[in-house]
Amino acid sequence: MSGAERVLIAPSILTADFGRLAADVAAAEAGGADVMHIDVMDGHFVPQLSFGPLVLEAVRRATSLPVEVHMMVANPVDQLAPLAEAGADRLIFHLEAAPDPHAAIERTRELGCQAGIAISPPTPASSLEPWLTAIDMVTVMLVHPGRGGQELLADHLPKVGELRRMAEAAGTPLVVEVDGGVKAHNASMCVEAGATLLVAGSAVYNDRETPTEAIAGLHEAIGRTS
Ligand code: DX5
Ligand code: ZN
Repeated sequence: MSGAERVLIAPSILTADFGRLAADVAAAEAGGADVMHIDVMDGHFVPQLSFGPLVLEAVRRATSLPVEVHMMVANPVDQLAPLAEAGADRLIFHLEAAPDPHAAIERTRELGCQAGIAISPPTPASSLEPWLTAIDMVTVMLVHPGRGGQELLADHLPKVGELRRMAEAAGTPLVVEVDGGVKAHNASMCVEAGATLLVAGSAVYNDRETPTEAIAGLHEAIGRTS
């Protein structure tokens, strides 16, 4: 575990109750969430369709937390402006979907947002190397993107440490996020691997506990006391 670095929790609303979305988002904030994670899926980059800027706007209105958008979309450059206008603080595009990552990063900056790049399980960490000094964070997918509630693929966790080492070697600060299958029982494993931002979807929004209870469980699992 990386000493004093504070590990943040980013609830994904994918398994929230969309009939009471604002209340579910407010509950995560009240329960100690740090960032809201919004999964946009276009039915092309992944087979599933989720939601777009209108739902993002509703989340933006419901919280004062930073909002990050995980863009599981083909042609991400086309979607950066609508998502920024809808209230995103950070835009995360998939490396596999971006023929010109440089253009996507530049456009994200012009829009005043932080820039992140996600990689799906088959993509090696090394493919991010050219971009590490230009972005704020990376997202290591620990499930195949598209659905909440899948099992974490632990074989991909070593990419987190690899990215931390690559960023250090490049002399650049880099947040490394993990996304998919993170639960109280495996959260410490993610932190030990070097992750400082944990996406938690079904671990926060489920029918067994409230978001407050769930986030408290995650905090306990990673030894966070405040
Ligand atoms: C999957 C999404 C994840 C998902 C996480 O494609 O990117 O953010 O909502 O959900 P859990 O935590 O349930 O795996
Ligand atoms: Zn996600």
